[in-house]
Amino acid sequence: MSEKLWGGRFVEDTHRLASAYSASVHVDKRLAPQDIRGSLAHVAMLKQQGILSLREAKKIESALNQIAKEVSAGTFEWRTDLEDVHMNIEAMLIKRLGSSGGRLHTARSRNDQVATDMRLWTREAADRICQRIDDLLHVLCKQAEQHIDTLMPAYTHLQRAQPTRLAHHLLAWTEMFERDRSRFLDAARRLNECPLGAGALTTTTFPIDRHHTADALGFTQPMRNSLDAVSDRDYLIEILACLANTALHMSRIAEELVLWSSQEFGFVDVGDAFSTGSSMMPQKKNPDMAELIRGKTGRVIGSLVSLIVTLKGLPLTYNRDLQEDKEPVFDAFDTVSASLEVLTAMLETAEFKPKSMREALADGYTNATEVADYLVNKGIPFRQAHALAANLVEAAARAKRPLEKLSLQAMRTVYRGIDEDIFVALAPEVAIERRNVFGGPAKSQVRAALRDLKKRLKARTPKVSKRRRT
Ligand code: ARG
Repeated sequence: MSEKLWGGRFVEDTHRLASAYSASVHVDKRLAPQDIRGSLAHVAMLKQQGILSLREAKKIESALNQIAKEVSAGTFEWRTDLEDVHMNIEAMLIKRLGSSGGRLHTARSRNDQVATDMRLWTREAADRICQRIDDLLHVLCKQAEQHIDTLMPAYTHLQRAQPTRLAHHLLAWTEMFERDRSRFLDAARRLNECPLGAGALTTTTFPIDRHHTADALGFTQPMRNSLDAVSDRDYLIEILACLANTALHMSRIAEELVLWSSQEFGFVDVGDAFSTGSSMMPQKKNPDMAELIRGKTGRVIGSLVSLIVTLKGLPLTYNRDLQEDKEPVFDAFDTVSASLEVLTAMLETAEFKPKSMREALADGYTNATEVADYLVNKGIPFRQAHALAANLVEAAARAKRPLEKLSLQAMRTVYRGIDEDIFVALAPEVAIERRNVFGGPAKSQVRAALRDLKKRLKARTPKVSKRRRT
């Protein structure tokens, strides 16, 4: 006979297979600090409401604090036969305090308890991810500052399209993570309501004060409906979607790093520390870390899908299926956190190659749009100018030269009105500077965007760089 906390109406023991199958302590013991915090808030409220005597509350509080210490020291003994984190802690409390320990669960159910623990955990984890995103933004900001004058082709369809600055490209990456960060904050705001006091599903007959516990645990308010409180997992879907989005962004950047570190591009060297060799081909230096960041994104998306599918079709309120929420959430957080850390470290030391970028710019006809715009300035309608510019590219490609290496005479066979000043327009520096539009690559625009980013970073995490070093 196992030492069950409650015998209930059962005359038979749980089958060995059933208890092994349903045990979750190997996963949810991670919630122990949150579980204890939730219990402490619950005890304090029971005491305030006169549901628990001062003496008993004190005993429970000090035993819980002791258990918290043992958990963090790794000396707490977890027992699979006690099913989950909640019962492990409560059983230990009862073992130590006897019947007083049994009073903790007054006016509470594991249903509102686990919902509270998980919200507390997720709130903290989201915070940690935001910090990691900030670290990454700092690194990108630093690299962008160093590469304001590094010119490169910008791509559409992975074809060289128009010239830009590397800083402009890196700043595009920062925009992706700025949005991710704000998504986490937004989701965290919504999840920050307290399910505690919902009981198993319809609250309790005891005169509890749900506002008290919500407040003590840093929630904005108790959840409005007790049935919803024990059954809602939307907030985890939202958070997983935030994580999936962040992972996707990292994956897209990783893909660029894989491409850029190939000999075909030669735009970046991520360094030996973030590359691996081949067991067979001695010349290889593979961007494995970037590939893994890309690869692990599949797992994170899988976690999101897994929870969505778990929830589909669940009637109100609590169903044991909900226990399956933890693994995807923990795994997605761990994966995204580790990927952010690796990506940040890799980008911090990545060496971009201005020379190769500049060379790629030279022979990609990325200045063809300049010809079209040039002709528009001569009074030709854009559609016609576009066609004439295409003819010019065609002529240059036939002659195996870049546009600016065609003679004025050759250009004039395409359109008579072309003058010497076309050569000025064709220079990438000029092409970039002429895009002096908000959000564009002109130096003053990129500088302003950088200033803006720095200001935002400074306002939110003044000590980020220090923290990273400790
Ligand atoms: N381990 C459970 C979970 O994570 C705790 C809640 C159990 N509630 C119940 N009615 N069986 O969902």
